[in-house]
Amino acid sequence: MKKITIIGTGYVGLVTGAGLADFGNEVICADILESKVNQLKKGEIPFFEPGLKELIDRNVNENRLSFTAEIEKSVQLSEVIFIAVGTPELSSGQADLSHVIKVSKLIGENLNFYKVICTKSTVPIGTGKKICKTINENIKSVVDFDYVSNPEFLREGSSVKDFLWPDRVVIGAEETKAFEILKEVYRPLYVNKTPIMHTNIETSEMIKYASNAFLALKISYINEIANLCDKVGADVHQVATAMGKDGRISSKFLHPGPGYGGSCFPKDTKALVNIAKENGLNFKTIEAAIIANENQKIVMFKKLKKLLQNQISGKSIGILGLSFKPNTDDIRESSSLKMISFLIREGAIVKSYDPVVSNQIKNIYPDLNCCSSLEECVADTDAIVIMTDWNVFRSMDLKKVFKIMKKPVILDTRNILSTHELNNIGFKHDNVGRKSII
Ligand code: UGA
Repeated sequence: MKKITIIGTGYVGLVTGAGLADFGNEVICADILESKVNQLKKGEIPFFEPGLKELIDRNVNENRLSFTAEIEKSVQLSEVIFIAVGTPELSSGQADLSHVIKVSKLIGENLNFYKVICTKSTVPIGTGKKICKTINENIKSVVDFDYVSNPEFLREGSSVKDFLWPDRVVIGAEETKAFEILKEVYRPLYVNKTPIMHTNIETSEMIKYASNAFLALKISYINEIANLCDKVGADVHQVATAMGKDGRISSKFLHPGPGYGGSCFPKDTKALVNIAKENGLNFKTIEAAIIANENQKIVMFKKLKKLLQNQISGKSIGILGLSFKPNTDDIRESSSLKMISFLIREGAIVKSYDPVVSNQIKNIYPDLNCCSSLEECVADTDAIVIMTDWNVFRSMDLKKVFKIMKKPVILDTRNILSTHELNNIGFKHDNVGRKSII
């Protein structure tokens, strides 16, 4: 059992903190935002993440998890410090490391005995060295530390499960002592024989980017295959299923859609291209994946336009789903937002419904009509567009939808509806790469 401080209470920091407490460690989650800390102390979770509240409550009740805005004090008390602050994208496409560097300075200033400093945030390769330099420059007394890179592979919406049952844990550490301490932090996993990989720091930093960029590439690939399926009369799901049976390919992340979004893939792919450029290389495959992803959003809009015979202006369109994927309220880089902006630009009257997103969208589109029910969003529309594969949309009563729409037109960008059912009811519809269902 280790005494741990996690700096940053975003979804990575909070899930990591609660998860490590569940593994038996004594964890303090620290954040500079006092309002957020107070919210957490009251048992309120600042974002929607299934299972997280239960995990937090359980560990707070067992006295293994606490929250503070006094970061200095919690750093002084802990043996292991996790940096889990944001690394947003700069306009140049590079990762903004200002929060990471600020926190490293603070850690240096408060280093009072040997500690392991560990980065969870996704940081460009080479950042470990910068963090060590910053800490060293700010140390006030003669005291030692080791640095470790320990990337997260959590998916929003299933991060609790991903944390407690990971496919692998990557620990980039130069010193065996630091590696052993981290192994101890993850002890229940180690005992359960979860693969724990010991690498150097740069390899660990690279593993994170290489994994995310590969998954993004896989999605862009299947999206382009889907677009080609549309042209040649093939069914992308059958293609993906058959491809996935090949162990070398695997069936995961071969689901076509309106383009990937979220806080990770768009940012990390661009950052990797930049890292390659800084090292004199052109990362052609990832550059292509980024372009294909942007194009996919345009392809979706063109499909809708075609369904509406090029008449968008003045049409009432219902957007089903705002978050970048189901089981999260995160709308960052969501393809849904792009669809809304295309529609508004061409003069459509847009309304939307999402089971969890409401207020955040108002900051971007203050005038958007955010409906409080699926029925309200669908009623009297000229077309509806499924943008997020929430279960509530999978199970919607299509006969009822048919009756309450002005014109029965559906674009299913997530391929969650039965094309047979849509045909039988009489919808005019389109999807991504499955025209020729037999
Ligand atoms: C992603 C990675 O999957 C995590 O392993 C990683 O830890 C995380 O980024 C991160 O770096 O923090 P996340 O962005 O939460 O996780 O969500 P994903 O489930 O990967 O989905 C990303 C996007 O790809 C979504 O827009 C989703 O709809 C889309 N997607 C995913 C597809 O279009 N098709 C698929 O087959 C899978």
